[in-house]
Amino acid sequence: MTVNRLETDKMREIKAACACLFSEAAARSDRFLDSLSMDMVKRAYRRNAKVHHPDMKVSTAVNDVTSDRFLAIQQSYEVLVNYLEDASPAGEAVLSHGKIIAVGGAKGGIGKSVITANLGIYLASLGLRTVLVDLDLGGSNLHLYLGYRSILQRSINDFLKKRVASLDEVMIQSPHGPLLIGGDSSELGSANIDFMKKMKLIKAINGIEADCVVLDLGGDTSYNILDFFLQADHGIVVTTRDSASYIGAYHFLKAAMYRKLNRLTGMESRSGEEKNSELEKYIRESTLSGNDGQSAMTINELVASIREEHPQYLSTVMKAVWGFNPYLVVNRLPVGVGPEEVAGKIQSVAKRWLAREVRLLGSIGRHPDVERSAIDLVPAITRHPRSAFATEIASIASKLLKIA
Ligand SMILES: Nc1ncnc2c1ncn2[C@@H]1O[C@H](COP(=O)(O)OP(=O)(O)OP(=O)(O)O)[C@@H](O)[C@H]1O
Ligand SMILES: [Mg+2]
Repeated sequence: MTVNRLETDKMREIKAACACLFSEAAARSDRFLDSLSMDMVKRAYRRNAKVHHPDMKVSTAVNDVTSDRFLAIQQSYEVLVNYLEDASPAGEAVLSHGKIIAVGGAKGGIGKSVITANLGIYLASLGLRTVLVDLDLGGSNLHLYLGYRSILQRSINDFLKKRVASLDEVMIQSPHGPLLIGGDSSELGSANIDFMKKMKLIKAINGIEADCVVLDLGGDTSYNILDFFLQADHGIVVTTRDSASYIGAYHFLKAAMYRKLNRLTGMESRSGEEKNSELEKYIRESTLSGNDGQSAMTINELVASIREEHPQYLSTVMKAVWGFNPYLVVNRLPVGVGPEEVAGKIQSVAKRWLAREVRLLGSIGRHPDVERSAIDLVPAITRHPRSAFATEIASIASKLLKIA
C-alpha cells in the first residue's frame, strides 16, 4: 500500500470513527475534526456505550446486532484516541540529529515554500523553537505563506548588505508560531551574492539559536542553492508527478552530490578536511562532463578509480558519499495515486548514478485547502490542524523527529 494511500485510508478510518461516535455531519466537517478533544471522545463513547452495551438489552434476538454495534463503538473509540495521542506525542520531540532542514528541488511551483511554511508551523506547535529562512533570494515569498501581505520591513538583505550585524536583528515572530527570516527580492541584486557573503550567511545560519531551522530554497541548481542544501542536516527534495519536476529532482540530487565532492576540501567543506589541490583536481575532472563529449563518471566509477589511482583519498571520498542522505517528498498527488512510481524512478537513477538510496520521507495530496491558503494567506495547517494535509505534514515531521 502506498504512503499516500495509507494516509488517505487513515483519514477515512478517522472519519468513519467520527461518524460512528458522533454523526455523519461531524465526520464530514474539517472544523469538527480540528476541535475534537480527548474529553469529547470519552464522553461520546460513554453516551453510545450506555445505549448499545449488550448487557443493556434483554432480547437475545437483538443481541447480535447490538454486539456488532458495541464493537464498532469500541473500535471507533480506539481509533480516535490513537489519532489524538499521535497528534500530540507524549514526551519532548526533537530533531533526530542537527537542527537544519533544507527544502529544495530544481523547479518552481512544486510546493517547496508551502511545505517549509506548514512544516515549520507544525514543528513550532510541538514547542520547538523553529526559525524559517527564506533562501530563495531571487524569488522570496515565504512570508506570504506565513500570512504577511506586504514587503517585510526587515529582511535577510539587511544582513547581506551589512545594514544589520546579525540575523537575529531581522528575525520576526510570525503570527502562526515559527520565527521568520524573510527575504525581499524586490531589492535589485538580492539574488546575486558572492562567495564571501554566502559563507558569512551559512555561518550565521549555523549559529541561529533554535531547535529547528527550516530553509526554503529557490528552484534551481545554482551553486549557492546547492551549498545551502549541503549545509543542512536533513535535505528534502520536493517533486511532483510532472516529468519536468521529477527529472529536475534527479538533476538536483546529482548536482548536489557532485558539488559536495567538488567542495570536499577547503573552506566550504563541512568535514573540516584540509585544502587538497590534487584531490580537488581529480574529482573536478571526473565529475564534470568534458568538452570531448565524455560524460561524468558515476559515483561507483569514481570510487573505483580513486581506489586504483589515489587509495590515500578513498576514505575521505567514501565518507562524503555515505554522508549524502537526502529525502524525497512527492507533492500534489491526485486522490488514489501513490508516490511510488515517481519516487521509484528517481530512486533507481540515483542508485545507478550516485550509488545512494534516496529515502521517501512522505507524500502530500493535492488539496483545495492548500490552493486556498495561497490566496487568502492563512496557512492550511493553521486553518485545519487535523485535515488530511496536516496529517501528511505531521507524518513527514515525525520521521525527522525523535522523542527525547
Ligand atoms: N499539496 C498541494 N495541494 C494543492 N496545491 C498546492 C500544493 N502544494 C503547492 N500547491 C500550490 O502550488 C503553488 C506553488 O507552491 P510553492 O510556492 O510552495 O512552490 P515553490 O516550489 O516554492 O515555488 P518557487 O520555486 O517558485 O518558490 C502554491 O501557491 C499552491 O497553490
Ligand atoms: Mg518557493
